[in-house]
Amino acid sequence: MTEAKKSTLYRDLGRQLQSLIADEPDRIANAANMAALIYNGLSDLNWAGFYFTRGSELVLGPFQGQPACVRIPWGNGVCGTAAARGESVLVADVHDFPGHIACDPVSRSELVVPLVEDGRVTGVLDLDSPKLARFDDEDRAGCEHLVSVFLGS
Ligand code: SME
Repeated sequence: MTEAKKSTLYRDLGRQLQSLIADEPDRIANAANMAALIYNGLSDLNWAGFYFTRGSELVLGPFQGQPACVRIPWGNGVCGTAAARGESVLVADVHDFPGHIACDPVSRSELVVPLVEDGRVTGVLDLDSPKLARFDDEDRAGCEHLVSVFLGS
């Protein structure tokens, strides 16, 4: 997919997300619809969803895909690393990421975007793909945009 097409795709997904969540204050409902929107709107995904911060762990939230690990200690795996750093982590080949947590052995690449609110990481958005190097900087920027729409900023 060309960069221009990708940016158009993420802009359209952002608009759809905005209209899906506009009148609904319930975060779990909005996260569920966002996971479904991303899972069905982006190609080559085998998992899309959320983990939310609960004490020193991330706990599974709404998602689409195979059943997944429920609790991830802060700092562990790709999700815990993105949460601890407070910044997105893009992994071209999960086999090269020390500590990657293999919830689904089919996953080969991964993108995790933290939810940062008032300087605190309240959770992460996690996307997995069975394709090597599925995600690039356009996807990172696009998913950061979707997270900012989700958080209402
Ligand atoms: N692979 C992730 C764990 C979550 S699952 O992919 C849904 C990680 O290493 O943090």
